Amino acid sequence: MINRDTIDTIITTARVEEVIGDYVNLRRRGVNLLGLCPFHNEKTPSFTVSPAKGIYKCFGCGKAGNSVNFIMEHEHFSYPEALKYLARKYNIEVEEEEQTPEQLLEQNEKESLYNLNLFAQQYFTRMLHETAEGKSVGLSYFRERGMREELINKFQLGFSPDKWDAFSENATQNGYKKEFLLKTGLSLEKDNRMYDRFHSRVIFPIHSASGRVIGFGGRILGSDKNRPKYVNSPESDIYNKSKTLYGIYFAKSAIISKDSCLLVEGYTDVISMHQAGIENVVASSGTSLTHDQVRMIQRYTPNITILYDGDPAGIKASFRGIDMIVEQGMNVKIVLFPDGEDPDSFARKHHPSEVEAFVTENAANFILFKTRLLLGETKNDPIKKAALIREIVNTIALIPDRISRSVYVKECSALMAISEQVLMSELNKILRAKLKKESPEAEKDLEVIQPEQIPAEYQIDIDLYSAEYQERDIIRLLLLYGKDTIPIPSSDVDEPTISVQVADYVVDDLIRDELEFENVVFKSILSVYIEYLQNDTIPDGNIFLNHTDKEIQTVAVNLIFTNYSLSPNWLKNNIMITTEKTRLDMYVMFALRAYKARTLDKQMSEILKKMNLSTTLEEQNEMQKEYIELKKQSMRINKDGLGRIITR
Ligand code: UTP
Ligand code: MN
Repeated sequence: MINRDTIDTIITTARVEEVIGDYVNLRRRGVNLLGLCPFHNEKTPSFTVSPAKGIYKCFGCGKAGNSVNFIMEHEHFSYPEALKYLARKYNIEVEEEEQTPEQLLEQNEKESLYNLNLFAQQYFTRMLHETAEGKSVGLSYFRERGMREELINKFQLGFSPDKWDAFSENATQNGYKKEFLLKTGLSLEKDNRMYDRFHSRVIFPIHSASGRVIGFGGRILGSDKNRPKYVNSPESDIYNKSKTLYGIYFAKSAIISKDSCLLVEGYTDVISMHQAGIENVVASSGTSLTHDQVRMIQRYTPNITILYDGDPAGIKASFRGIDMIVEQGMNVKIVLFPDGEDPDSFARKHHPSEVEAFVTENAANFILFKTRLLLGETKNDPIKKAALIREIVNTIALIPDRISRSVYVKECSALMAISEQVLMSELNKILRAKLKKESPEAEKDLEVIQPEQIPAEYQIDIDLYSAEYQERDIIRLLLLYGKDTIPIPSSDVDEPTISVQVADYVVDDLIRDELEFENVVFKSILSVYIEYLQNDTIPDGNIFLNHTDKEIQTVAVNLIFTNYSLSPNWLKNNIMITTEKTRLDMYVMFALRAYKARTLDKQMSEILKKMNLSTTLEEQNEMQKEYIELKKQSMRINKDGLGRIITR
């Protein structure tokens, strides 16, 4: 027998679109995916997969189910066989050995705890809706807080009457054992008598990801200073606080379909957000997120947005905790609520559309948020600034993904007005030290292997300031995004930005500045590219994949292939897709600027070298003029920050 926890893990991990994607070519159609049904012959696709619901359905032959059913149907597997197949695919350990008597006992014991919690939840709900006290005290409290009936029902809210042993007595009468009443924490024992932990409170049941009640939170009614505002179930065999997220069961499908998870503080925030139509929301209940909680969210999305009430000081205190989330490969954003508001109070005061807009408009990337916040405190104090750089680079070093790291180096260097080189070399120092600690072998390898051969996760040592990297980056942007348009600031007041295709923008810029690539292969790719442009076509990577020149082909393969055959995971976790594409203008300008800055540096140092060798004063003066001209250009590029404004 495969135990229930394992089954739950398999079902939540094996995303239906991923599992089916192995067999059926799926195309996105709105929120769903569409493909040709593998179970009957058809020419027009009617096989629909809903990632949000975790199910598939063929509107031609009627076959439907979840990922496990699909594998059963397609591979003619039994239920346990299908589960084991998926477990293997996702590296989930299957716990299924013959159960020993102790295990059976434990299993039974867990079931008893679940059963009792279910009983309790039904009892509390009944008390809320069906007793005079529940209606006049509990229900009216929820209504006063603006909670709608449908949400009260959805979250199975309840009420525990003002009698110290009402529940304990009822449960005992219904045959529930004292042992389990104590283990779930629903009852407490004193002087050999049982009384209710939650008496005289409104009740928030806590559900597992698969929807079973594993614990409760109870709030006092009103504001009695002598009693704690909330009490919660203690930990038990079925309730592990550090592995639980309040609301996850009700948020799961919204998290998947929005590819993002919002994190709030507590019960009331979660429910109020649902009332405002925002359902991809969970609460960590008090403390900062644990490793396990992050992993739970990560099964559904790599994107998390933390909604904060309170002041920057409080947020600063939580930076370490957020660093841990970054380290787990999540893209973290922060939303700061206005002073004195939490998500609950804000949602109650505003129209649902305003809540949604507020969150989207105010979500700031954590690393940039942190940089900005700390930057505001350095006030040009060089010592503080050095500490800031170290602090930020330490955070960037935690990001597992190499490409995301360099994106942040670029963005933070612009924010802090510090050269990318400085940040990058700091970063590489930390990374090398880390790599050495983890595996001395890997560090040694770094020195001998060619960049192309280094597995992606170790490719940290590429010199971002080499011609090699910068020219490659420009070619990469051209091949991947040549046809995309970017907004470019213009000098026209009526039309502050104009839309330009990346191909045109980049090529014009390179030609105008009469810059030539150093790397011969990149140079010839660029000239082929320009030829195509002159014939009014923007070439994509495929043209170079089939190029007769073997070297061009190899470079194109390395450059493009990984980006074209993205594994779903890669796509999901890669910031290039989420960030590079959305801020393409910035990345294009960064790439050009970095390239030009280095070219100018090189020219300048060549002049300096020549100056040292030259003899005549006239020659020296000439070179000095040239040098100053280059210096001016270089300063302008650095000052522009986000790139040059086209005015000429
Ligand atoms: P609040 O103090 O805002 O709770 O904490 P509230 O019920 O909304 O009370 P009022 O009406 O604003 O005074 C927000 C969340 O923090 C958690 C709860 O989940 C609550 O929803 N919390 C708060 C606790 O778990 N324990 C506490 O003692 C306080
Ligand atoms: Mn509140």
